Order: sequence, then structure tokens, then C-alpha cells
Amino acid sequence: MIVASLLAYAVIRFGYREGDSRSEPAQVYGSNQVEIAWTVIPILIVFVLAMSTARITSAVQDQQVPKDAVNVTVIGHQWWWEFRYTDLKITTANELHVPLSTTAERKLTFLTLKSADVAHGFWVPQLAGKTDVIPNRTNRMWIDPKELGIYLGNCSEYCGTQHANMELRVVVETPEDFEKWVTQQQERAAAPESAENQRAFLSSACIACHTVSGTRALGRTGPDLTHLISRQTLAATEVPNNAATLRDWIKDPQRLKPGNKMPTIKLNDTQLDQMVAYLTTLH
Ligand code: CUA
Repeated sequence: MIVASLLAYAVIRFGYREGDSRSEPAQVYGSNQVEIAWTVIPILIVFVLAMSTARITSAVQDQQVPKDAVNVTVIGHQWWWEFRYTDLKITTANELHVPLSTTAERKLTFLTLKSADVAHGFWVPQLAGKTDVIPNRTNRMWIDPKELGIYLGNCSEYCGTQHANMELRVVVETPEDFEKWVTQQQERAAAPESAENQRAFLSSACIACHTVSGTRALGRTGPDLTHLISRQTLAATEVPNNAATLRDWIKDPQRLKPGNKMPTIKLNDTQLDQMVAYLTTLH
């Protein structure tokens, strides 16, 4: 609109007037200096940008794993995240704890990404870009979290009906808090407060898929439950983790997350209560 009005104005205002000569105006060739300047300067800018991009890219890709780095194998499952701290001998799910990295004390976390089934994508926007999590292929990435807090992430590659609920959290904590968390996670499962409740759990079908360290529950297809209650959320961060949500989840896992791989196991109210009572002791 503005351009059109200015154009119309120029056509009318500077059009042919009485007394103008009908001959063509003098043809002026531009300026070599100006031509060279506006050709060379953009080339230099592109060159500088390309070089600095190449330098940063190679610095990111060639990052060596420092000795004190935290190494975690991330395994994408339909539809949850498994985190195995290979050196620390910890296995947990959906909530990744990492230490804060400061300029004075740099603490990097290296992630090795694998998939147990289909293609997923590991994406925590505030910490790093997306990295594909592909079956039969190992991808790597690293993070250098500079601020304390909880960072939310989501699977970034469509992987089936519950793709949108394949969420995760990264808990960035002080090195002291991280150490505390590690120590706590390395402990074996708490001794059962009630042998009867534990028996209810250990004689259920749950143990085919879930592990509770130190017991005969050694299943690997579902999340490790050894320190279940230390996690803030349930079902790949969908709901807060407490006795009520846990009970609802076990009673009918398909209600909260239709299509997920956890089968509904027929349990009467007493059995359900025993199961929840046992699981809530797993701090
Ligand atoms: Cu996993 Cu989308």
C-alpha cells in the first residue's frame, strides 16, 4: 500500500512536463568502487560466518569425554525413557538427574542414545537440540547445564499412540545434591515393612517386566521400580507419583495411557492395597 502510493506519487509528480526535452537523459554508468564494495563485503561476511560455524560445529562434535563426566545410556521405549548410569550402576526412568556445570567446575553429562523398539527423539529444548533415538544405532550427545532446575523434555519423533505422552524431566542439581541422589539410588531396595505385601508383589505377574533390586523381580521390559517413590512422577511424567495415582495406574493402566504396554492385571481391592503398600516403601 505504502509502496504503491509512493509509486503513484512519483509517476504523477515527476512525469513529462511542458518544455521537457523528448531526448533520452544522459546514460550514467555506476561506480566501480561501490560495485566492488557491495560485492566484496558480503563475501567476507559469509566467509567469516561459515568459518565460525565450522569451528563451533567441530568443537561440539569432537568434545572429548572428560574423566569426571557423567555417562548415561538413554533407552527410548514405547512410551517411556530408561536411564542407565553405566559407571554409577543406577537404573531409573523418565527423570534424569544430572549435576550442575559451572565455569569454575565444569560437569558434563554424556548421553548414549538407544532404542528398544521404534525410532524416538530425545529433546529437552532448554538444554540441547533434538537427537534421534534409533533402533540398532547408537547416537551420542552431551549436555552442559548451567542453571539449576527441572527441565522438561518430550519425545520428538512420532512413535505410536502415546508419543505425545512420552515425556521426561531433567533435574539439574548441585553436585552435592547429585551425590546424595546417587548414593540413595545405589542402595538396594528397602527391606519390606510387611513381608506379606512384598509376597503379594513378588507373586504377581508384575515381576515379569519390572525389577526391584535384591528381590526376584528382575524383569527388564518395564521401568526399574527399586526406587520408584524417589521419582516425582508416574507414567513418563504424566501424573504426580503418590499412593492414589499409583493405585489408579495399577488398577487400569490403559485408562490413563491407552495403548501402553502395561497389561491390566486382575487384582481385588485387598491385593491392590497390598501392592500399593509395598511399592510405596520403595524410596
Ligand atoms: Cu517416542 Cu515419540
